[in-house]
Amino acid sequence: MTAPEAPPGPERLGLRVLRPLLRALPHGFGGLLPVLELLRQELGEVFRLDLPGFRAVVVAGPEAIRQVLTGPPDVYRWRPEADPVARLMGRGVLVTDGAEHERLRRILEPANRRSYLEDRCRELWRLVDRLADGWQSGCCRDMLVEMRRITLTAFEHVYFSHDPGPELAELWEPVLSAVSYIGPGPWLVLGAAEPPPGAAHLRSYLTALIRRRRQASDPPDDLLTQVVRAVPDDGLAADQLLTMLIAGHDTCTAALSWTLYLLGLHPRWLNLVKAEVRETLGREPPEPGNIDGLVWLDRVVREALRLYPPIHVGMRLAGSTVTLQGYRIPAGTRIM
Ligand code: HEM
Repeated sequence: MTAPEAPPGPERLGLRVLRPLLRALPHGFGGLLPVLELLRQELGEVFRLDLPGFRAVVVAGPEAIRQVLTGPPDVYRWRPEADPVARLMGRGVLVTDGAEHERLRRILEPANRRSYLEDRCRELWRLVDRLADGWQSGCCRDMLVEMRRITLTAFEHVYFSHDPGPELAELWEPVLSAVSYIGPGPWLVLGAAEPPPGAAHLRSYLTALIRRRRQASDPPDDLLTQVVRAVPDDGLAADQLLTMLIAGHDTCTAALSWTLYLLGLHPRWLNLVKAEVRETLGREPPEPGNIDGLVWLDRVVREALRLYPPIHVGMRLAGSTVTLQGYRIPAGTRIM
C-alpha cells in the first residue's frame, strides 16, 4: 500500500490560476472566492492553497466537510490562536477546545433551547414593530443598517433583558469594527493586527452589565444571569457574552438583509409571501403555534441562507496528522 500524498496545489495550474488570482487580489477575500471555485473544479474537493504568508488545505466537498465538522475535536481543533476571531473572543466558547469548550457549551445551552425563544416571542415582535414604525412609506432605508439595529436590540432584550436604547449609538462603531476585524481580509496574508479599540469598548460595556447583574436582588431568568451565576470571573463571562453578541447578531443581520434583498429582486415571491402571511396569520401576531403554516416564507429564508450563507468559510487546525479523502494532512495545517 502506498503512503497517502499531500493534496494537489495551484502549482499544477500555473498561469491558468495566476491570472484570475492577480485580478482577484484588489477585491479582497470576496474576489478570492471565484479563484477557490476554479481550484476546486480543477483540483478536486481537497486541495492546497499556498499564498505568501498563508498556507491552508481547502476542503470544498460535502463528504470531506462532514468529516472535518464531525471528526474528533482534538484532531480538528477550533483555529489558530493568532487568528483575529480568537484574539477578539479571548476564551469564548467559539474558540475554545476540549473540556473547557464542553463546560462553556453547557452553561450557554439553556438559552439556545427553542423554549427560551418561544417564551420571548411576543416581546420580539412588539420590539420589531416599534423599530419598523419609524420607517416611512416612500423613504429610502438601508436594510443592512436597519437589520443590524433590529438584531442588536433584539439580542439585548432576549439575552440580557436590557434595552440598549440610546447606548446603541455608542455601540455601533465598536460592533462594526469588531465584525470587520474578524472577517476574512488582508490579515490572511499579512498576519493579524491587534483587536481594534472598539473591542475594548464592547468588553467594558459587557463587564458593566455583568457587574450590575451580579448586584441585582431579583435577576431575570436569562442568558446574562445564567452566565453570571456559572462564571465568577468577569473577564471569562465577558468573553462568552461578546461571543454570543457577535456570533448571534451578525449572522442574523446577514440572513435578514439577504432575504430582503432577494425578495426585492423577485416581486413575484414577495407578493406570494405577503399573501401567505395575510392568509395564515390574519390579524394575529406570529407565534410558535401559527408560524408552521408559513411554508413559502420558510422556503424563501432557506433559499436565501443557501445562496448567501452568513458564514461561508470555517477554519480548523489539524491537531494531529490525518488522512482526508486519501490525502495526508500534517499536524498544524490550517484547514479551510
Ligand atoms: C442565521 C443565523 C446563524 C448562522 C448561519 C450561524 C452559523 C454558525 C456557524 C457556521 C457556526 C460554526 C462556526 C465554526 O465552526 O467555525 C456557528 C457557531 C456558533 N454560533 Fe451561530 N449561527 C447563527 C445564529 C446564531 C445565534 C442567533 C447565536 C446566539 C445567540 C449563535 C451563536 C453561536 C455560537 C456561540 C457558536 C459557537 C458554538 C461552539 O463553539 O460550540 N449563532 N454559528
